[in-house]
Amino acid sequence: MSTHIGAQPGDIAPLVLMPGDPLRARWIAETFLEDARCYTEVRGMYGYTGTWQGHRVSVQGSGMGQPSLAIYANELFREYDVQSVIRVGSCGGMTEKVGIRDLVIASGACTDSSMNRITFEGLDYAPVADFGLLCAAYDAAIARAGDEGVHVGLIYSSDSFYPTRPELTARMVEHGALAVEMEASALYTIAARHGRRALAVCTVSDHLVTGEETSALERQETFGAMVEIALTAGTA
Ligand code: ADE
Repeated sequence: MSTHIGAQPGDIAPLVLMPGDPLRARWIAETFLEDARCYTEVRGMYGYTGTWQGHRVSVQGSGMGQPSLAIYANELFREYDVQSVIRVGSCGGMTEKVGIRDLVIASGACTDSSMNRITFEGLDYAPVADFGLLCAAYDAAIARAGDEGVHVGLIYSSDSFYPTRPELTARMVEHGALAVEMEASALYTIAARHGRRALAVCTVSDHLVTGEETSALERQETFGAMVEIALTAGTA
């Protein structure tokens, strides 16, 4: 096992779906995968491997925020030879260009985190998605319901769920950010470092401009649709 994942070599599939919430990982495994087996319960951050339409797939919780995701992403790429990680998460809409329940496929992720600033000694690295996964996710999304409510663009991976400087968030919007979440920037950077593929797809669960929030049922439904899009894209 690696330091934070209690799996043996070979227990984890080359494709991993990565929700923040470990209970979502369990829900995905129970709802979408056949013959799902739990390979780790370390710290309650569940991981499962099963099959979807004949493809071996794993699903691994990341926890909230970039430091937590970075632990799991590093160990998946380094110790388990994972080739692709698709984050499936929620995000907050930052602009009226995106609506509540919409799907945001993150082509890039800017951040206020110091993780990359330290890694690149002050140079501003631009974390981007894998283009193949991005195209496959877009195709899968519009095949489901047309392009209404499907967005591809820049997201903002913030270290703070409760921002103390809303004017900085506004500046991100002025420069194209569509939605805020807390993990994609680290995922894209770590995948690039290991020469692997990564993508973040997020559904808009709350809206910073309109103040709307999805109900628990709506979150479940939009989350399920997003998981199907991620599975389709990852196995294309
Ligand atoms: N994830 C979902 N909504 C969010 C928000 N408003 N801020 C950060 N991450 C989020």
